[in-house]
Parts: sequence; C-alpha cells; structure tokens
Amino acid sequence: METVLITGANRGIGLALTEVFLAQGKRVIATCRQPEAASALQALHSQGELTILPLEVTAAASISELATSLQGQAIDIVFNNAGVLGGEQQSVDEMDIADWANVLAINTIAPFQLSVALKPNLLLSKRPRLITISSSMGSLAGTSTNMYSYRSSKAAVNKVMQVLSNEWAADGIIVCPVHPGWVRTDMGGADADISVEESTSGLVALANNLTAAQSGRFWSYDGEELPW
Ligand SMILES: NC(=O)c1ccc[n+]([C@@H]2O[C@H](COP(=O)([O-])OP(=O)(O)OC[C@H]3O[C@@H](n4cnc5c(N)ncnc54)[C@H](OP(=O)(O)O)[C@@H]3O)[C@@H](O)[C@H]2O)c1
Repeated sequence: METVLITGANRGIGLALTEVFLAQGKRVIATCRQPEAASALQALHSQGELTILPLEVTAAASISELATSLQGQAIDIVFNNAGVLGGEQQSVDEMDIADWANVLAINTIAPFQLSVALKPNLLLSKRPRLITISSSMGSLAGTSTNMYSYRSSKAAVNKVMQVLSNEWAADGIIVCPVHPGWVRTDMGGADADISVEESTSGLVALANNLTAAQSGRFWSYDGEELPW
C-alpha cells in the first residue's frame, strides 16, 4: 500500500487530495496546523488509513518534530500543498513588504525545508515522488501584472524544485512543481474555473503515473506541460 503525505490538508485542495487518495486505498498522512480543529479532515478517518499530524510549515521545530515522528517510514508521495495568496497590497503602488516575506516563507522556503527533512522517508519508497503545488501565476512566460508576492513565491519554488530534481535524480526521486488549475477553494474564490474535484482527480492521476522522464518539469493538473 502506498503512503502519501499532504500538507495543508484541513481544507481546499489538500483536504480533497486526502479524500481521493483514501478512496484509492492509499495510506494518507495528512498534516495541518490545528488537527483538533480540523473537523472535515477528522471526518475522513472512516474512509481509510488516515493519520493526522500537526505541521506549521514555517516552523523549523514543527518540521523536525514531524520528521522525527515519521522516522523509518516509507513515503511514496509528498505533496507540498500548503500555501497562501498573501494580502491585497501586492502592487507597485501599495506593497506590504512584511507580508511578502511571509508569503515567501510559506510558499517557497517551507517546501524546500520539508522536502529535505522528508528525503530519508522518500528514499525508503520504491518509486518516490515529490510534488509541490505551484501556480501558473509564477510562470516567467506570463505577461499578467500585480500580485508580486504570490507570483514571485511560486516562480521561486519552481526553481527550487527544478534544482532539487537535478540533485535527487541519482536517488531516483521524481520532483515536479504542478499547477492545480484555478480552483474554487477559499483561495481561488467562487468564480474560479474548476471544482476542487476536477483539480484533485487530475492531480492524483498525475502523481500516480509520474515517470522519471517527467521530473524537473512544470505540469498542469490536466497533464499538460507548462512553460517555466
Ligand atoms: N485555488 C487555486 O485556484 C489555486 C491556484 C493555483 C495554485 N494554488 C495553490 O494550491 C495550494 C492549495 O491552495 P487552496 O486553494 O487549497 O488554498 P486554501 O483553501 O486557502 O488552503 C490553504 C491551505 O494551506 C494551509 N496553510 C497556509 N499556511 C500554512 C502554514 N504556515 N502552515 C501550514 N499550513 C498552512 C491552510 O491551513 P489553515 O487552514 O491553517 O490556514 C490550508 O490548509 C496552495 O499552494 C496554492 O497556492 C491554488
């Protein structure tokens, strides 16, 4: 039975990924900041082999506690999903610099730190995959404006994951940043293009079938390759 670890699993895309992987008979380690308050996630205990663990992705102590509690356990797929959009002041005219640093800490630095902390677990898998939920809003090929904090955090995490894919290729770890689509969650809003079910069924199919040849490339939930 494969094991999947998902961050930010208490709501949105992370919660839906948990549900789909459980339905496929996978063991899921779902992390969130406040497990005791994560009622929708707790309700999934009846759906399969679910372990819920606390993780604040920006706290080094929290990452290290998680890694210690998982020592010796193989993890086949790590999903760096937790993320924030950042506040409204992300323009040339109004920029919240402290918030920008927070967005970078959550969206860029945390996925790096967690991935490194869980590498020993990935190495225990026969087919290890490290997937980071990024965004097409971070694509350097894009021409849109504003949202400096969010865009730069996702562009940077794409580069982090591409470098990791190069470094870990010899270990057999597949590393990909993935765009989930514009999804109707708290972050995506009610006007977004696709439902969380459509996004996560694509993300799960992609994760299940990823090959070494796809490592170090930027993918969309629907299987299309995206420009950096
Ligand atoms: N929705 C979209 O249209 C869209 C598009 C492109 C990319 N994405 C990316 O997809 C991922 C999931 O987005 P979503 O739409 O599901 O967002 P969401 O509904 O806002 O959920 C965000 C999740 O991240 C968690 N989180 C935030 N900061 C955290 C921290 N410091 N430590 C631990 N967990 C933290 C939240 O936990 P709390 O409940 O504790 O805050 C929540 O579980 C994000 O990386 C996002 O950037 C989303």
